Amino acid sequence: PVGAPDKALAKKITKVGVIGAGLMASQFALLFVRRLQVPVVITDLDQSRVDKGLDYITGEIDKLLAKGRIGSDEANRLKALVSGTTDKKDFADCDWVIEAVFEELGVKQQVFADVEQYIADDAILATNTSSLSVEQIGAELKHPERVVGFHFFNPVAVMPLIEVVKTRNTTDAALSTAMVTAAALRKNAVITADTPGFVVNRILAKLLGEAMHAVENGTSFDAVVEAVRPFGLPMDPFALLELVGLKVGAHVLDTHHAAFPERFFESAALHELADYGHLLEKDAKGKTKGYDPKALAIVTT
Ligand code: 3HC
Repeated sequence: PVGAPDKALAKKITKVGVIGAGLMASQFALLFVRRLQVPVVITDLDQSRVDKGLDYITGEIDKLLAKGRIGSDEANRLKALVSGTTDKKDFADCDWVIEAVFEELGVKQQVFADVEQYIADDAILATNTSSLSVEQIGAELKHPERVVGFHFFNPVAVMPLIEVVKTRNTTDAALSTAMVTAAALRKNAVITADTPGFVVNRILAKLLGEAMHAVENGTSFDAVVEAVRPFGLPMDPFALLELVGLKVGAHVLDTHHAAFPERFFESAALHELADYGHLLEKDAKGKTKGYDPKALAIVTT
């Protein structure tokens, strides 16, 4: 087991680069700017995705202001610290770059290779992958020793944990920077081995996968929810699947099945639901009304 390395080895972070401007990336971009108070630059495939991420961050800063969690000076300062770009050259002076792009090994390898051309040799590359091998994500780089897993949970603002993933190459400096950064973000960090699903998703893949398989085998959604109620989960398995994203959930199951074919099973129904888009029906305010009848039909027919 790996313990936390000496904090004195941690690099000071003066600028953060975020690759990906989707919901997960935007949520943690906000956390970085709020807790580290350093410039944060976000990028994505095109300007409209970048703008969507920036709009989300600005909207969340406005909500913090409205709730009285921050004052207007602070809100303005945070907004001024966040910028968007479609040019990875703008990452040149980032000492911490974190990616949350599509969960495909080749895509993640490519975005890190692109950005490595511009950043300093000792800048850290962190990946928010939920179940791919962190070592493989860094395998093609000039400096794979700078790569560390830094896995957030949804909703980022609320969930207290970060899984910090050490590969066989990760230096103590990179690991220490990750641990000190997690503490600065006011999260609890655990160091995990670089194994599929790390700890949390390995366990969730079982729980959520078996919940899906139960309905595929003819048990109703409501019966599954009722059956697991005594576990005391903050959310039932299907609400949690909807929160993490049905596509992400299906992908996590596939990755586990590929790694451990006899222990984890894919879910065809979950893939069909992911293609349909959602399982739960929401009202105009975003409050869950119940299961979407078409989604139920997908699973039960
Ligand atoms: N985004 C941002 N903030 C949110 C949010 C969201 N989606 N959902 C809730 N919050 C905030 C609320 O704004 C509120 O903040 P406030 O106190 O500042 O007003 C706070 O969370 C509590 O909200 P609620 O009163 O609505 O809270 P609940 O008591 O119903 O809790 C919950 C909501 C925290 C989401 C709780 O249901 C929970 O913990 N669910 C389990 C979530 C979980 O297990 N996540 C891990 C998923 S796995 C994953 O992400 C890994 C990936 O790789 C697949």
